[in-house]
Amino acid sequence: MKGHYFKHMPNIIDKINTLKKAKNAIILAHCYQPVEIDEVADYVGDSLYLSQVASRTDADIIVFAGVYFMAQTAKLLSPDKKVLLPQIEAGCRMADMLSYRQLKEFLAQHPSLPTVCYVNSTAEVKAECDICCTSSNAEKIVKSLGKSKVLFVPDTYLGKWVEKQLGNVEVITYPGFCPTHLQIRPQDIENARKKYPNALVLAHPECHMSVSSIADFVGATSGIMNFVAKSKNKEFIIATEQGVVDRLKRDYPNKTIIPIKNNIICPNMKMTSPEDILHVLETEENEIIVDEEIAKRAVNCLNRMLEVSK
Ligand code: 13P
Ligand code: SF4
Repeated sequence: MKGHYFKHMPNIIDKINTLKKAKNAIILAHCYQPVEIDEVADYVGDSLYLSQVASRTDADIIVFAGVYFMAQTAKLLSPDKKVLLPQIEAGCRMADMLSYRQLKEFLAQHPSLPTVCYVNSTAEVKAECDICCTSSNAEKIVKSLGKSKVLFVPDTYLGKWVEKQLGNVEVITYPGFCPTHLQIRPQDIENARKKYPNALVLAHPECHMSVSSIADFVGATSGIMNFVAKSKNKEFIIATEQGVVDRLKRDYPNKTIIPIKNNIICPNMKMTSPEDILHVLETEENEIIVDEEIAKRAVNCLNRMLEVSK
């Protein structure tokens, strides 16, 4: 399938590949990116996988096809590399819900509790938290603290999902959320089940609890992709971002992949184009820079997560 999406611009792949080689660069792409980005990406996956790749790479330049916090996380984990974000405007609406000041106020309301920080957050926020997590390891990370009460920022639904799974830890959450995943309603699941009674419903834990609690499986991007890969079932209703649907359709043409509804799209994730990738590779514009003092503390938060996730 390589080159399929690039028929209309045949030189782009060649130009990107030549520059990657000449500059010892790699391209990391999140699964919510437009699916054609995979054709130039060296690694495609979810937040945890991509942060692990970023922490281990020998490349001199990392081009992160994703949103700002992902590129910033790559920079924190690989401070000596040049990290470029193809679209500097691509932020995360959930990460934007928690500023440094809002975090300090939240921490002041709940003193002396360990704080788990979802990776969808700024470096300033990470610098003030004890340990980071992604949606694929959140349960393991909260459990690793061995406490009966923890704070969780900024995603209230992921935090509450973890609380429900663990059963013996009170998770006090900041009221942040993902506007894309919150578009999915329990009624959408009921409608889809009526139409496809043999399909299994797979949902991301950023969904509202009323959705997660009626899904057949709840998991991060990698969890959902692995579930489809391994399941003997043939039909799946996907309750997460469209990029996951597109990749599953491409990778499993013999299975029926049904989006829970149209337009479950993260607009920021869809900003990146192959031309943007080529542009930053050529110009090395849009470099991610993090203040040294903040970076020192924020990286501890991330390294603790990677240690637990090994
Ligand atoms: P993953 O951890 O599944 O990659 O999710 C990242 C994200 O931003 C989901 O909205
Ligand atoms: Fe942020 Fe939601 Fe987009 Fe993920 S899907 S990057 S949480 S706004």
